[in-house]
Amino acid sequence: MKSNALIETYAQFPIEVEDGHGTRVRDRAGREYWDFYGGHAVAIIGHSHPAITRAIAEQAAKLTFYSNIVPIEIRRLAAERLCDFAGEGLNKVWFCNSGAEANENAFKVAVQQTGRDRIAGVIGGWHGRSLLPMAATTDDKIRAPFERIFCDAVRLRPNTNDDLDLIDERVAAIIVEPIFSIGGIYELNAEFLRAVRKRCDEVGALLIYDEVQTGIGRLGRPYVAGDFGVRPDMVTSAKGLANGIPMGAVLFTDNIASKIKLGDLGATFGGGPVPCAALIAVIDVIQREGLLENARKLGEAMKKKLLAGPVREVLGRGCLIGLRVEGPSKPVQEKLMSLGFLTGTSANPSVLRLMPPINTPMHAVDELAAALAQVAS
Ligand SMILES: Cc1ncc(COP(=O)(O)O)c(C=O)c1O
Repeated sequence: MKSNALIETYAQFPIEVEDGHGTRVRDRAGREYWDFYGGHAVAIIGHSHPAITRAIAEQAAKLTFYSNIVPIEIRRLAAERLCDFAGEGLNKVWFCNSGAEANENAFKVAVQQTGRDRIAGVIGGWHGRSLLPMAATTDDKIRAPFERIFCDAVRLRPNTNDDLDLIDERVAAIIVEPIFSIGGIYELNAEFLRAVRKRCDEVGALLIYDEVQTGIGRLGRPYVAGDFGVRPDMVTSAKGLANGIPMGAVLFTDNIASKIKLGDLGATFGGGPVPCAALIAVIDVIQREGLLENARKLGEAMKKKLLAGPVREVLGRGCLIGLRVEGPSKPVQEKLMSLGFLTGTSANPSVLRLMPPINTPMHAVDELAAALAQVAS
């Protein structure tokens, strides 16, 4: 047998995670860590939450899978619950399997409905590795080999209203990540977001919010959509939707949804009964346990308490937080790991990212603050 048949495509943490419960994970050597990396921002309500495990097991025993060729009650229910949860006029949803797939299809809807062939993004945003999202993404590492086959795309400087003219009558849609996560926890401000909405309306372009990281409660509200009075035409969501079972979604306003016809969108696994059961359980837990409020409180605590050791500024909100450190963040990440804390780096070499579950206990923040204080500044 080959020693490792997996292709290495990720620079991995030097630990092998064996099990996880809540915000704690344990490696094969039996060492425990606080998971402020949140399993890649996926474990929105913590690892192996009993309500999710139960929902998955019960649904798998009843019907593990049937495609969209038949209606399934749990799919209808999941759609209803997600749209109710999101609010803000997002009354229809299409399910898929990942963030890139959600963004790809949101762009396809925009191109089809506007008849236009240019897309737009914001410099610093990150939208996934399929062709349309990549064309709107800034990360040169992933873009470079494919640039020659991208569609026509323009990118605006963030929070720069002078660039709004780039959204014109040729643009089908602009995709906006309201807080750049991989880009280094950089927030698009209310003035810019409002101006983008206004400009889209003036020229007939659609506004897509990429809420793959900010969505499903991470910021202490269901989605950023609606914040600052800005309502996008489409919202994409993935990561924590089913707390670890692959699931993506595009949420639509009635206006956009009413123009989508039979056969326009499709994905074999999209809206499978198991992820749908998990999604319903995620929303149940968030609502039953008051986790939106908890995410806000955790964010406030992290902003107040984590200005310690090498940290010079705490960025972001809710459970999407950036620690701007003195010098490079990588050695700080490594030191924190040796002290029992998993964190993420970002495209900004001096910003460490925290995406903990929104039910993380408050004392974990105190423990992280104490660990930071031990890291040389
Ligand atoms: C904001 C954002 N959009 C899209 C994606 C792509 O999601 P996926 O990896 O599920 O395709 C990511 C992944 O990290 C992301 O952070």
